[in-house]
Amino acid sequence: MRKTLISPSILSADFARLGEEVRAIDAAGCDWVHVDVMDGHFVPNITIGPGVVAAIRPHTHKPLDVHLMIAPADSYLEAFAKAGSDIITVHAEAGPHLDRSLQVIRGLGKKAGVALNPSTPAGAVAHVLDNVDLILVMTVNPGFGGQSFIGAMTDKIRQVKAMIGDRPIHIEVDGGINAQTAALVSAAGADVLVAGSAVFKDGRYQDNIAGIRSAADAAARAT
Ligand code: DX5
Ligand code: ZN
Repeated sequence: MRKTLISPSILSADFARLGEEVRAIDAAGCDWVHVDVMDGHFVPNITIGPGVVAAIRPHTHKPLDVHLMIAPADSYLEAFAKAGSDIITVHAEAGPHLDRSLQVIRGLGKKAGVALNPSTPAGAVAHVLDNVDLILVMTVNPGFGGQSFIGAMTDKIRQVKAMIGDRPIHIEVDGGINAQTAALVSAAGADVLVAGSAVFKDGRYQDNIAGIRSAADAAARAT
């Protein structure tokens, strides 16, 4: 059976204690650490730059899953690679040359991801499948944590899964994921679940990660 990976979003962490928070989710059993980079232009919020990625890098050996919500992204790819990112995801909507951006990320020795906004069709990745390691289906409009899951995205996850075939590409989901919605996206084919508020809400990181994981794994087993 496919193993569900949980990637807590540090957007919901206490930024004043970020190193400690990264160590805490690592100890609580996360698989990856999701880093939301926002530029106040592609999305209406500003968060983290490469300096912060470099600062948290020594606090975990787990993969840093860096989600770039910035446009243009190309001029920053090298900086995020050098800062210690393991996976770098760009938005399909962020620039005119997605294929080139993906090649640059892989050329920097990193895993390459493409994110799709809710209104972007699955077909936007149809011709780059051999250049991607991960497809991120946004289940909210990017910009903020704590938003409600958009149910129509489960159809898109199914479409992406069918398109991928037997290629070794992760399907990641991001936005409004909790134990309930984890089951829906897992049944549709997602194998990497980002969760911000559902992990960090009450300090019970281990229980929250385990709850999302077991709901997802149960749904995957049932399909
Ligand atoms: C949204 C970000 C998400 C966000 C998820 O733009 O990409 O990673 O932190 O937060 P929750 O899980 O609270 O919806
Ligand atoms: Zn994200």
